[in-house]
Amino acid sequence: MSDSIIQKVADEFRALSEPQGNARPPAGPAPAAAEPVGNGAVHGEPFVSPHPYATVLHDRRLAAEAQGLARRDTLLYLNGVTKSFDGFKAINNLSLVIQKGEMRAIIGPNGAGKTTMMDIITGKTRPDKGEVFFAGDVDLTHHDEAAIASMGIGRKFQKPTVFESHTVEDNIRLSLAGPRSVLGALVHRKDRAERDRIETILETTRLTARRKTYAANLSHGQKQWLEIGMLLAQDPELLLVDEPVAGMTDAETEETARLLREIAQHHSVVVVEHDMHFVRALGVKVTCLHEGSVLSEGTLDKVSNDPKVIEVYLGR
Ligand SMILES: Nc1ncnc2c1ncn2[C@@H]1O[C@H](COP(=O)(O)OP(=O)(O)OP(=O)(O)O)[C@@H](O)[C@H]1O
Ligand SMILES: [Mg+2]
Repeated sequence: MSDSIIQKVADEFRALSEPQGNARPPAGPAPAAAEPVGNGAVHGEPFVSPHPYATVLHDRRLAAEAQGLARRDTLLYLNGVTKSFDGFKAINNLSLVIQKGEMRAIIGPNGAGKTTMMDIITGKTRPDKGEVFFAGDVDLTHHDEAAIASMGIGRKFQKPTVFESHTVEDNIRLSLAGPRSVLGALVHRKDRAERDRIETILETTRLTARRKTYAANLSHGQKQWLEIGMLLAQDPELLLVDEPVAGMTDAETEETARLLREIAQHHSVVVVEHDMHFVRALGVKVTCLHEGSVLSEGTLDKVSNDPKVIEVYLGR
């Protein structure tokens, strides 16, 4: 054992041995309730005091097993993630778990670290420390952006990035095409399965009537839907959507909430948004980030009534 481990063991040993008001009760019958007889025996049975460090090891193994089990069942698992930029902690010991099939809304004031969190999940930014696992056991910190996208994590950035000089339908076809060349995708014989997929995506994204429209001529909201459609074409298991309703009309915002709820029936979704009407319409669990960590989590009512959250928003 190295000196530091020995020191750590010694510290833990000491901490366990010291009588403390809030110390964990020892295993077995509580000494106060027992009647020590002679040299430590209770009711005639030999008294065996567990070695304090054995208890530490046992607890650690149980905790690790519990954590492993929990992680295996999760879709996204962030634990103790930290990322600094020039000494400033944009993400600070962030822990967050998204279950398979879940849609989660992430809120938080400007600069809370919401986009940086997505950068870390998608491999755009490497964390300084902490764990980031996808589908239980894929360590995302060991993969680059392209590999992570191909594993089934799709991302929509704040600004829509559609091919303006192509029609809505061709934008979706190009996204379905995957590794084929752009020209190859456009002249490719439309097979039945591909046509069906395009129809479904057009319907989901409310763009069926706009299929022949050049993307450049769509409204801002429709461009956002088209980009969501282009993500869907890749059939990601998890969609990360950053501020989808910024700049949308009220009607488009309401429609986007419905659209994402439909998508969430078949995909997991993490959606960052400031618009609280929209977050309420999503009707999902909410995580509020602040200064790179989770400030509050739960239903929107619980989070928005949390004094810590109120202080952060009112204090801006
Ligand atoms: N590449 C970078 N270099 C330096 N600082 C950065 C970088 N990326 C993010 N930051 C800083 O990290 C902090 C978190 O930024 P981030 O964009 O993640 O916040 P956000 O929660 O997405 O905010 P908003 O709601 O305004 O989009 C900010 O203070 C930002 O300036
Ligand atoms: Mg952001």
